[in-house]
Amino acid sequence: MKKIVINGGRSLTGEVTISGAKNSAVALIPAAILANSPVILEGVPDIQDVHSLIEILEIMGAKITFSNNVLEIDPTEIVSVPMPNGKINSLRASYYFMGTLLGKFGEAVVGLPGGCYLGPRPIDLHVKGFEALGVQVTNEHGAMYLRTESDQMQGNRIFMDVVSVGATINIMLAAVKAKGQTIIENAAREPEIIDVATLLNNMGAKVRGAGTDIIRIDGVEELHGCRHFMIPDRIEAGTYLALAAAAGNGIKVKNVIFEHLESFIAKLQEIGVKMKISEDEIEVYPSTDLKAVNVMTYPYPGFATDLQQPLTPLLLMTSGTAEIIDTIYAKRVNHVPELARMGADISVEGNMIIVNGPSKLHGAEVVASDLRAGACLVIAGLLAEGTTTIYNVEYILRGYDHIIEKLTALGASIEMIEEVEAE
Ligand code: EPU
Repeated sequence: MKKIVINGGRSLTGEVTISGAKNSAVALIPAAILANSPVILEGVPDIQDVHSLIEILEIMGAKITFSNNVLEIDPTEIVSVPMPNGKINSLRASYYFMGTLLGKFGEAVVGLPGGCYLGPRPIDLHVKGFEALGVQVTNEHGAMYLRTESDQMQGNRIFMDVVSVGATINIMLAAVKAKGQTIIENAAREPEIIDVATLLNNMGAKVRGAGTDIIRIDGVEELHGCRHFMIPDRIEAGTYLALAAAAGNGIKVKNVIFEHLESFIAKLQEIGVKMKISEDEIEVYPSTDLKAVNVMTYPYPGFATDLQQPLTPLLLMTSGTAEIIDTIYAKRVNHVPELARMGADISVEGNMIIVNGPSKLHGAEVVASDLRAGACLVIAGLLAEGTTTIYNVEYILRGYDHIIEKLTALGASIEMIEEVEAE
């Protein structure tokens, strides 16, 4: 068991460089198995989810090397291995193996995904999409069994009832090897979807329209290896920007694509955060007179649900009452009682989080309930007077590359402690 211990209240300053996007990496890595020769991914974050996916690929017979953020995947010896449970259950994004194994072998057995609990996270749209491509899908004892009904999946028109990142990517991953054309309507438009489509096209696929709400995919027989440089993590960037605004004394956030963060930056500007935005970096200056603002999360390009929790400590520093409504995951509120334990005036009323500021935070023992709640508690710990101990930090390590080192370089007093459990 690991825990993070923070001595808060320090002035933070300097530069931080953003790593590759977790939610892109977790799709690009399964996508690589569709190729018939090695795929080289550059800029891959060194996070637990990536290591879990590497272990899964190795079980299938892939040859992998991973160093200096370059991940080389040689899928030439991969075989079809049923994965009803085990490592596959440790992360949500393992559902992308449904799409890629279908494309590779016409069949897949994949345990139902784990990952962060943010309330119910169904996969009915993924299933609906696969069925439209001619795949028979059954759920047996918590694992999904998928089998192509005829020789090959058949392209189709698929309308997504709800805008879903995962379902859009998963259907795209399967459809690149289907016969004929697939059209995904009401597709999600996240930058990670464009990144996956770019990789697939570099591998020889024919995907058009990624980044809009209509994606057209013409199936191909074969996909080949390639080299792909992935996008930076807009959620990690947003987390450090929120930290810089709340606790920073001048922090430059480097390797950022501003266009991916427009709704978030607009919110920071509304709060009164002073920034200088350059081509691929954003400098956040110390700001005073911060104003409370309301936040409502939406699918991209709206305000990202993943940044709702990391923004909350900043809202605690503003004057007035802020209301947060998460329209994607209404139950993404488990950070609230932990922040209250640290002295925050914050509560949940119905589907709304109510934040009254400015709050003075003090150190406490808190528990990370999920990845972004963990990031929120790290920021709160850095702001608080005294010592904060965060438990369940495995969630944070799933998605934040070298977080301890990056924060230490900014002047934070933060360490990870491995607790030896009593026998
Ligand atoms: N939904 C359905 N049916 C489905 C799929 C989704 O009803 O079959 C609903 C969900 O319940 C949710 C909404 O559609 O209300 C959107 O969910 P989406 O499918 O877009 O979420 P996801 O693909 O499972 C990804 C990210 C999440 C991020 C969401 C929303 C990955 C691996 N995960 O999840 O990231 O919160 O999109 O943008 O890409 C995180 O990074 O901390 C994280 C949880």
